[in-house]
Amino acid sequence: MKNLQDIKILYSEEVLQSKIQEIANKINEKHKGEEICAICVLKGSTPFCMDLIKRINLPLTLEFIRVSTYDGDSSTGKVNHLDMTLPPLDNKNVLIVEDIVDTGFTADFLLKSIKLKNNTKSLELVSLLNKKIARKIDVNIDYYGFEIDDKFVVGYGLDYNGYYRNLPYIGYF
Ligand code: IMP
Ligand code: MG
Repeated sequence: MKNLQDIKILYSEEVLQSKIQEIANKINEKHKGEEICAICVLKGSTPFCMDLIKRINLPLTLEFIRVSTYDGDSSTGKVNHLDMTLPPLDNKNVLIVEDIVDTGFTADFLLKSIKLKNNTKSLELVSLLNKKIARKIDVNIDYYGFEIDDKFVVGYGLDYNGYYRNLPYIGYF
């Protein structure tokens, strides 16, 4: 466990919440008159997904899946599908909600596996953070909050060995 006092704040709670409102506005506008099926990618996306869906003013259903790739502070590059149980998503506007797209392996895997099994009306990806410089596989992000440098960040769902997910802000050591 590192010392919480040593965390430098990158995005404060206020900054995060106002960015999330901006993202929700875009989704509300784009999908006016439609329904959304949001898929929260456990565990990291939980705080972002919960704050985002509260601001989406469209009929919405919520699903959860669980995958993992990280070990400590580096990506293993291998996506473990811990639970990919989903209902049929045919004809639905599916929105995958991610905390961060880093190498892109997780998002690429999720997009491909949902596409393979379902004939969705639309399939979009929203990610709070975009670590574009670390990308190893090309992936299209429909909406994102902030583009960040190649540094390891924690807080607001993002963890280091399971800790710091409960911070209301995003920071780094
Ligand atoms: P990717 O498959 O490399 O794009 O990584 C996706 C997952 O790795 C994210 O959903 C996070 O759970 C984790 N991850 C990537 N970068 C960070 C970071 O800076 N802090 C904490 N977790 C991260
Ligand atoms: Mg994650």
